[in-house]
Amino acid sequence: MKNKPKNESSPVRRGYNNWAKQYDTDGNPLMALEGGIVPGLWGDIKGKRIVDLGCGTGRHVNRLIKDGAEVVGIDFSEKMLKEASEKISSGRAKFIQHDIRKPLPFDDNQFDGILSTLVFEHIENIESLFREMKRICKPGGFILISEMHPAMRLKGAQAAYTNPGTGEKIKLRSINHTVSDFVKSAINCGLNISDIREYEGTEKLAAKKPRAKKYISWPMLLILKLDNGDGAY
Ligand SMILES: C[S@@+](CC[C@H](N)C(=O)[O-])C[C@H]1O[C@@H](n2cnc3c(N)ncnc32)[C@H](O)[C@@H]1O
Repeated sequence: MKNKPKNESSPVRRGYNNWAKQYDTDGNPLMALEGGIVPGLWGDIKGKRIVDLGCGTGRHVNRLIKDGAEVVGIDFSEKMLKEASEKISSGRAKFIQHDIRKPLPFDDNQFDGILSTLVFEHIENIESLFREMKRICKPGGFILISEMHPAMRLKGAQAAYTNPGTGEKIKLRSINHTVSDFVKSAINCGLNISDIREYEGTEKLAAKKPRAKKYISWPMLLILKLDNGDGAY
C-alpha cells in the first residue's frame, strides 16, 4: 500500500492498538506489582521535565502529573495514546506518537527524568535506546526502567492480551533480554547504575490479582535506575 504510515507494519503496534481498550482493566499482576513500586523511586519531581517512553495508556503519566512534573508521553500505538489523552487533560501533559527504536525527537539534555516501563521486551537493541536516553537526559537527571523479569519467561509469560470477542490469547512479539543484557548495555553506554532491584510475586499480590498465584516467590519484576554518572538527584 503506497500511503501506508511508516510503522503500520509493526505487529506489536497493531497488538497494542487492539489491547488498548482493555489494557487498564485486565487484571495484570505485573502492572499491579510495578505500579506499587515505581512511583516511589522517582523522588521529588515537582516542576521537573519528565519523558515517559512507551507511555501506553498513561498509567505513570497520570501519577507524574499529580507529583507536579511536566510530562511528555511517547508511544507508537495511536490507540494507547488515545486512551492516555482522554484520561489525562492536564496542560502539563503532552503526547507524541513516535517509534522509540528510532532517534528520539528531542535535542540533547532536555529532561530531568526519563521513564520507560514494561517496554524493553519490544526493543531489540537495548544499547541504542540507552544511548538516546543518555543523550536527552540533563546532567544530574535520572533514567528509570522497569521490565518483566526474565525469569517470567520460564513460566511462559510475555506481553499478551485476551481477545474479548473470541477469548483467544494473543501474544505480542517480544524479546527475552537477560539481566546482564541490561547491565552490559548500560556499561557500554557509560551510564551509571545507581540502583538495580528484583521483585518476587507475593501472597498479598495473589490475593489482589489471582493470576499472580503462579508467581509467588518467583522473580516477576526487574527495575534499574541509571544516570550519567554526574551526580544524579
Ligand atoms: C506493556 S505496555 C506499557 C505501557 C506503560 N509504560 C505502562 O507501564 O503501563 C508497552 C507499551 O510500549 C509501547 N511500545 C512498544 N514498542 C514501542 C516502540 N518501538 N515505540 C514506541 N512505543 C512502543 C506499546 O505501544 C505499549 O503502549
